[in-house]
Amino acid sequence: MGHIQDNIGSIPSYSAPLGGRLSDEMVSDFKKVGVLVLRDFVSVADCEKLRSRAGQLVDEFDPGDVRSVFSTTGQQQLDDSYFIESGDKIRFFLEDDAFDDDGKLRQDKEHSLNKMGHAMHDLDPVFDEFSRGSDLAEVALRIGFVDPVILQSMYIFKPPNIGGEVVCHQDSTYIYTQPESCVGFWFALEDATLENGCMQFIPGGHKLPLKKRNYRGADGKLITETLDDTPWPEDRKVPCEAKAGTLVVFDGRAPHLSAANSSPKSRHAYTLHVIDRTCYYPPSNWLQRRDDLPLRGFE
Ligand code: FE2
Repeated sequence: MGHIQDNIGSIPSYSAPLGGRLSDEMVSDFKKVGVLVLRDFVSVADCEKLRSRAGQLVDEFDPGDVRSVFSTTGQQQLDDSYFIESGDKIRFFLEDDAFDDDGKLRQDKEHSLNKMGHAMHDLDPVFDEFSRGSDLAEVALRIGFVDPVILQSMYIFKPPNIGGEVVCHQDSTYIYTQPESCVGFWFALEDATLENGCMQFIPGGHKLPLKKRNYRGADGKLITETLDDTPWPEDRKVPCEAKAGTLVVFDGRAPHLSAANSSPKSRHAYTLHVIDRTCYYPPSNWLQRRDDLPLRGFE
């Protein structure tokens, strides 16, 4: 623990194995690097189905309802409660630059959105179907889950020209269990390239300590506590370009980032965050589910 092995400099990438049955080599690469790319895990048709359903949900959404902007660059969210209450809902979050100085959207709403979250997988039938299935269940078991449950889902829009930068972070900062069990399942729904702000990882960086923890303070407001203030070795970051249909599995400790999308193409992606039910889930985590929407696995 605590350092990156010198001989790790790339991200392992394989064609998706039949039935999600990862080979021993794939599992060992995942443990060593903290990231595993599985090309063609889902069909382009299924990606399009999800994008089309997301488009319908966007059509039904009224941007006037939203006063929250999600940003990891440090800008304050205008209203924490809109975010904090979204763990068992379908809510929309706008890009930092979505509004002009007069508070009007600069462009149409679809091209102003940062993301949608965080319970589409349990509330929407099309998202539910995409998020579950025997292949994903098999991947989860092979990488070591005992009783995996899908904690949250996010649909990332990364719109052309204004899709914001996401600075280097670990997802276990926000999705913390004891022991840590968070794993991200990230699906490219459109081709992700350097130009439109693909994910980038520090291979082997999941062996570094958890650097921050985000939780609800005594007054209910979110706090991000720094646990380790050594800077990320960002010179080791590697782009993870991915064709539509690719699944990227990554450890909750794997440091990752993405640049702003300054290209004319969007970069839609869908992420599931999975935790193990056998681990302790603190009541101070931002995401708390209402009792009548229990967490479920991949079945
Ligand atoms: Fe992340």
